[in-house]
Amino acid sequence: MIRGNRPIRKAVIPAAGLGTRFLPASKAIPKEMIPVVEKPILQYIVEEAAASGIEQVVLVTGRQKTAMEDHFDVSGELEDALKQRGKDALLELCVKLRELVEVVAVRQHEPLGLGHAILCGKGVVGEEPFAVMLPDDLVDGEGRPGLRQLLDVYEERGEAVVGLIEVPPPQISWYGIVKHEPVAPNLYRIWDMIEKPRPEEAPSNLGIVARYVFPPEIFRAIEETKPGWGGEIQITDAIRKLAGERAVYGWVFQGRRFDAGDKLGYLEATLHYALKHPELGERFRSLLLERAQSLSGGKAG
Ligand code: G1P
Repeated sequence: MIRGNRPIRKAVIPAAGLGTRFLPASKAIPKEMIPVVEKPILQYIVEEAAASGIEQVVLVTGRQKTAMEDHFDVSGELEDALKQRGKDALLELCVKLRELVEVVAVRQHEPLGLGHAILCGKGVVGEEPFAVMLPDDLVDGEGRPGLRQLLDVYEERGEAVVGLIEVPPPQISWYGIVKHEPVAPNLYRIWDMIEKPRPEEAPSNLGIVARYVFPPEIFRAIEETKPGWGGEIQITDAIRKLAGERAVYGWVFQGRRFDAGDKLGYLEATLHYALKHPELGERFRSLLLERAQSLSGGKAG
């Protein structure tokens, strides 16, 4: 039964950041365009959106980031050249890519924080519930795409839903951490949350990550939110405000989540997707085993 009244069609992807954690790779190309195996990180996110039923993606971008829009747009010369050379499979790949979703780009003119970036999508989203997908986070959902898992909760409950993971203690201060109460397997009611707490003030070990589903009222909550952690307008503080007025749920992702915005997390994501790759997977696995064997002095395997 759909209690979330309107199906969600739009997803905002905040992608205006400078990507300093990925310098020098991100100096002249957006960090979201750095590939994991053969696809840019952003393509995984947009494919997850499409597989979850999203029809329109609102990319919140900044200067020097037009490569992101171009990637999902028609490339006339390229498609003509592929057609002429009879490269049908590659042509089909390009056509599929631009047919995934409609991409609309809006600019965040000043780096005022994640909450502010999401607010930049307000004009395109309008008075509809919508999703937010953070492009640093890759989610390989088990059974259902990561965002779909949250949308299913939204459709049943009709309230905001945030993605959660269990955070290892040393990483508590990297995340928004929630105070929660269990309501069903993997599902929690969220009562409070703190953005990047010190370990001693963390209300639990569950951290908000990757994907969110919001009613349009979140925009007003963001507008009323003062700068918080790091002097920026934080989405966590706006959700906290929303949680004081209506229910907010948290869903622990089923599957794997990678922080592709972190160098080691990026390498882990590369390993994961390379091993799953239909053409490369098997050979990559042999390479990996060979390497592991030599690293452990011939004892692995
Ligand atoms: C953002 C959010 C934070 C969340 C994190 C992981 O922080 O502000 O609440 O836990 O993403 O998805 P950032 O990593 O952009 O500093």
